Amino acid sequence: MQPSPYTPGEIARAVPGRGELIEEFTERLSLMVDLQRLIGRVHVAFGERGIGKTSLLRAYQRLAEEREALCIWVTAGEPAGLVVQIIDGIREATRSWPQAAAATIREHLDELTVTIGVPGVASVSAKTSAKTKAATMAETVGARTLEKLIRATAEDRKRVKALVLFIDEVQSADADGIRTLAYAWQHLQAEHPDIPAAVYAAGLPNAPEQIADAVTFSERFAYRPLEMLSVGAQVAALRDPAAELNVAWDSDALERAAELAAGYPYAVQLYGDAAWVAAGRPDAGGTITKRNVKTARASVDRDLRNLFAARWANTTPNQRRFLVAVAWLQEKQDFVDRADLAEVLDVSSRSLSSVRARLIAKGLIRSEGHGTVTIPVPGFAGYIRELEEDPR
Ligand SMILES: Nc1ncnc2c1ncn2[C@@H]1O[C@H](COP(=O)(O)OP(=O)(O)OP(=O)(O)O)[C@@H](O)[C@H]1O
Ligand SMILES: [Mg+2]
Repeated sequence: MQPSPYTPGEIARAVPGRGELIEEFTERLSLMVDLQRLIGRVHVAFGERGIGKTSLLRAYQRLAEEREALCIWVTAGEPAGLVVQIIDGIREATRSWPQAAAATIREHLDELTVTIGVPGVASVSAKTSAKTKAATMAETVGARTLEKLIRATAEDRKRVKALVLFIDEVQSADADGIRTLAYAWQHLQAEHPDIPAAVYAAGLPNAPEQIADAVTFSERFAYRPLEMLSVGAQVAALRDPAAELNVAWDSDALERAAELAAGYPYAVQLYGDAAWVAAGRPDAGGTITKRNVKTARASVDRDLRNLFAARWANTTPNQRRFLVAVAWLQEKQDFVDRADLAEVLDVSSRSLSSVRARLIAKGLIRSEGHGTVTIPVPGFAGYIRELEEDPR
C-alpha cells in the first residue's frame, strides 16, 4: 500500500501544461543569472481559483533557487501593505548576512520603513490636489528607496546571482504598494538595466484591472492568462506521479478521468487521489483502471460540491441572479452575450457592469472579450442549474 502521490488543495509537485511559461521563465532566469540583466517588465499570471497560480510561482521559485537566485516570497493583502511585506521579506532573507555585506541594505531598509511608515503620507487616499502631490511625492520617494534597496540586495555578487520577487494574490495588494513597486521598476529599467532582478506575480482574473487602476503605465506589466489544462497535460498530471511509484494507469482510465476533470487542475488532483484510493492504494506493479475512476467519481463530486457550495454561499442575491442566468444560457452556448443576459434579467445591459466586475474579481466568471462571459470552472454551471430554475 503506497500513499497517494496526488496533491488536491496543495502545491503541485510538477506543473504539466505550463511548459511555455516555464520555458519563458527559464530564459529570463538565464538573462539574469548569466548575463546580469534586469527583467524590465513585471510578470503577472492570472486565473480562477484552483487553476494553479501558486503552484506555478512555486515552480518558478524552485528553478530560481537551483540557479542560486535569492527568492523573496510575498502573499499580498496584509494590512501593512505590499512594500512593508517586501521590506520584511528582504530583511528576513538577508538576516544571516555578515554586517559588512548587509550594511547598505539595512540602511535602505530603515530608510524605506520610515518613508512608508509616515502616517498619511504613503497611504494617503488623495482627496485634494495638495494631498495628491504629497502622495505622489511619498510614492516617488518610496519608489526611489525601494529601487536602492533592490539594487543593494541584487548587487551583492558574492551572495546573490539574481533577486526574484514573488507576489502571490497580487489582486489583494494595496494600490500604493503596486504604484511604488511599478515606479521602482520603471526607474531600474531606465537607469539600471544591469541589475539582475525580476518580479513575478500571480492573481485572480481581476488582477490586470486592479493594477491598471493603480498605475497609469501598466503596459510595463506582462500579463499571462492561465488556461485550463489540455488533455495531454492532464494525462501527464495523472500518469507521471503514479509511474514514479511504479503504478500504471490504463489508457481508458486516463481518458475518462481527463474527460471528467475537464481541464481544471484541482479536479485533476481530486480524480488522481480518489482513483488511487479506489484502486486500494496500489503497491508497485499495480494498475489504476476505468472502474477505479468510476468509483472515484462520487467522492470527487462531493468535494467539488462542497467547494461550489462555499463559493455560492459567498455571493450576494444580485450576483446569484446573474450567475443563474449565465449558468442556464451557458447550457446551450459556450460564451454568454451581455445583451442576452440583460434580456433574461430584464435590466439594461449597462446596469450589469458592476455585478459582472465583482464576479470576475471573485474568479467565478471569466470575461472572454466583446462583453461575453462564461463560468469557466467545470461543473459549477451545472451545480447552479441544479440549485436554481431557469429564469427564462
Ligand atoms: N499544472 C498543474 N497540473 C496538475 N495539477 C495542478 C497544476 N497546477 C496546480 N495543480 C493542482 O491544482 C490545485 C490548485 O493549485 P494552486 O493552489 O496552485 O491554484 P491557485 O490558482 O493558486 O488557487 P487559489 O486561487 O485558490 O490560490 C492544487 O491541488 C494543485 O496541486
Ligand atoms: Mg493560490
